[in-house]
Amino acid sequence: MNWSAFRSHFPVTQKWAFLDHAAVAPLPDVAVAALAEYGTSLAENGIAAIREQVARIAHVRSQSAKLINSPSVDDVFFVPNTTHGIGIVAEGFPWQPGDNVVLPAEEYPANQYPWMNLAARGVEARRVPSRGNRVLIDDLRAAMDGRTRVLAVSFVEFASGFRNDLDAIGELCREKGVFFFVDAIQGLGAFPLDVQKTPIDALAADGHKWLLGPEGAGIGYVRREWVERLHPIGVGAHSVVRPFQYGTIDFKLKPHGGRWEGGALNLPGISAFGASLDLLLDAGIENVRDRVLHLTDHLCEHAARAGLTVFSSREPNEKSGIVSLEKPGVPPESLVKACRAAGIIVNFRGGRLRVSPHAYNTVEEVDRVLDVIRGVS
Ligand SMILES: Cc1ncc(COP(=O)(O)O)c(C=O)c1O
Repeated sequence: MNWSAFRSHFPVTQKWAFLDHAAVAPLPDVAVAALAEYGTSLAENGIAAIREQVARIAHVRSQSAKLINSPSVDDVFFVPNTTHGIGIVAEGFPWQPGDNVVLPAEEYPANQYPWMNLAARGVEARRVPSRGNRVLIDDLRAAMDGRTRVLAVSFVEFASGFRNDLDAIGELCREKGVFFFVDAIQGLGAFPLDVQKTPIDALAADGHKWLLGPEGAGIGYVRREWVERLHPIGVGAHSVVRPFQYGTIDFKLKPHGGRWEGGALNLPGISAFGASLDLLLDAGIENVRDRVLHLTDHLCEHAARAGLTVFSSREPNEKSGIVSLEKPGVPPESLVKACRAAGIIVNFRGGRLRVSPHAYNTVEEVDRVLDVIRGVS
């Protein structure tokens, strides 16, 4: 893989060493071009360009289906953010009072509040604390009982960078007859995910992190056998089998994920998201993963020379593109500030420094982070 050709698509590299993809990613040039193209087309044509727009959306949907190896393109639907996708399950699940949902206590708030919000419906959110840098599957299992209906985890935990073993958790859910939901935003794009191999019942991810799209355009997936069992939220004109026959009211919901695309889609966002997705799929997600792990391995192997200790698990099956680090005695905010003054974008989460390079970053950029941090005391 020619990573310098890949890198040439990222204007951000002219200005910053950007290693904060776990926050909001910079757009590649192809996504900027897609946004501009959409804007120009809309300015010049309005609705008269509908055919091109429909074709564009169909392409992005099919690329999204490819990304997760969805059994059908129809099982993938566009969401305005991850939260919306989580709500499709949290609000739509056929709960009974006394049911519970199990989730790690250190999840990003978007994957906590929608479940906690179910208290009014008599549903308990069982929040399972991590052990240091890990979510233990045995702890998740121990929190489950005969009233557990849903288990919700992130692909990768946003602060610690811990990559959950989705195959093993999925198996556990299958064994117990529990619905398995994955907030995939911190992994999708950087790590392969195959919903036909991994027993995930639903997932959601906005495109603005590892998928390199703009905010406000992402994807959701619901396994077909669950479509009729979730009460659909956000139903609108486009949720039905014959969506464009506005004069005929015929309330037959689409038999697939399309029912959750109730109204107008974020066409510019989806279009730009699609351009980034094409770039990633052309590079190959497995290649992207190897490159992200190469860069983060380098960071961790050389962290000590900057006085940093690595908090994240770097076990082969647990490591991700997010590395959480500490410099004893130095607040992470000071490290982030010093980096920014040196033209480097990193972040802090969970009281620690968070560094999250993508495949277009370089070993030299990682070394620059270490050099700057070495000088901060
Ligand atoms: C694990 C996780 N889920 C979700 C989000 C974002 O949610 P949304 O797309 O609803 O803003 C983030 C952003 O930091 C995240 O880290």
